[in-house]
Amino acid sequence: MADTSILVCPATKQPLRLVPIEEADGARPLVPRARTGGGVTSEHAGRTPIVMLRADGEVAYPVIDGIPILLAPEMLVRDASSAAYDVGALPYAEAYEQMAFYNEFAAGGEGGGELARYAEMLRPAQRLTPAGRSQFPEPRELWIDAVYDAAAQMDCYRHLAPVQDRVILQLGGKGLHAVKFLLAGAKEAWVLTPMLQEARWAVAFAEMMGVSAGLHCIVGIAEELPIADATVDGVYAGGTVHHIVTEVAFPEVRRVLKPGGAFAAADPWRTPWYTIGTRVFGKREPSVYCRPLDAARVAPLKSTFPNGRRLHHGAFTRYLLLVLTKFGLESSLRTAWALNRIDDAVASVLGMRRLGSSVALLATRE
Ligand SMILES: C[S@@+](CC[C@H](N)C(=O)[O-])C[C@H]1O[C@@H](n2cnc3c(N)ncnc32)[C@H](O)[C@@H]1O
Repeated sequence: MADTSILVCPATKQPLRLVPIEEADGARPLVPRARTGGGVTSEHAGRTPIVMLRADGEVAYPVIDGIPILLAPEMLVRDASSAAYDVGALPYAEAYEQMAFYNEFAAGGEGGGELARYAEMLRPAQRLTPAGRSQFPEPRELWIDAVYDAAAQMDCYRHLAPVQDRVILQLGGKGLHAVKFLLAGAKEAWVLTPMLQEARWAVAFAEMMGVSAGLHCIVGIAEELPIADATVDGVYAGGTVHHIVTEVAFPEVRRVLKPGGAFAAADPWRTPWYTIGTRVFGKREPSVYCRPLDAARVAPLKSTFPNGRRLHHGAFTRYLLLVLTKFGLESSLRTAWALNRIDDAVASVLGMRRLGSSVALLATRE
């Protein structure tokens, strides 16, 4: 069972504690809160044998396979006739619309095959000495996995390093990064994702890599973090920020970071190539919410973290390489990295770095 000491109600931020459902029921049994909204693609998590009961005793959250489901629409309430939760509205709309897609992806097929591939890649990290772990994120051949966003991922990992003895939260995704942080010596790594199957993928991968004791998974959204104030040393988001409501999520990230804590995100950036490319080749993901970042969506970084900054990469070559993948031509990390180095150097000379479609967002809580 997950360490629950830092978990709070996503809606009210009151503390939560694990109890058997019978104890939480008392004289007024808990029932799933009604949900409404066109985008519901998942079953209710419903009543589970163990729940997380809120301090005021009015509300509890389901726990499935030891993973707390801290989504406000999955709340168990005392009164079945209480107002239905609209999951077709922000901030839950995208998470619910995409649940079936991401759960299916993480549960089987390509999602399952990835486990073995990443395990193979990270095998040498299991043998690192403390001195080797302290070099994270070097060597990059060991730690970097995002071929077309390698430079942005490197910026992010460098910003979070050193991770030894720290508590790091991975925001969104299947938990690959959380496991890397544990292999690099983090004390604890948390994975927060709206998708239960992604959390399960993280548990399976941490077990495979022998670091499951330090891993904690929660189902939740970035816009309503179910985590207590000032409890984590670093937050990493890989390909997640362009899915979230930044003006709501960034202040939440700041709230959970300890003073001096670091936030780093690697994401796609909207450039003219994107507009042309999606017209010709279509979008990789069908969601209306999945949109590359632009200046307006990233503006809350600066208003939340005065030291927030953005680094662009791959102005000329990234989309080209991505288009080639449509024709079965995958680049190796080494090739993509080398091309990106040249690309960034040329773009810097021409003053065109801001055309780079891969960005790292970096900030530190003052
Ligand atoms: C394009 S995928 C990025 C996958 C990621 N690179 C990984 O490591 O698996 C987008 C991710 O955004 C996450 N996501 C979507 N809406 C979210 C929200 N409101 N809060 C947190 N994560 C969210 C999902 O977990 C999903 O895996």
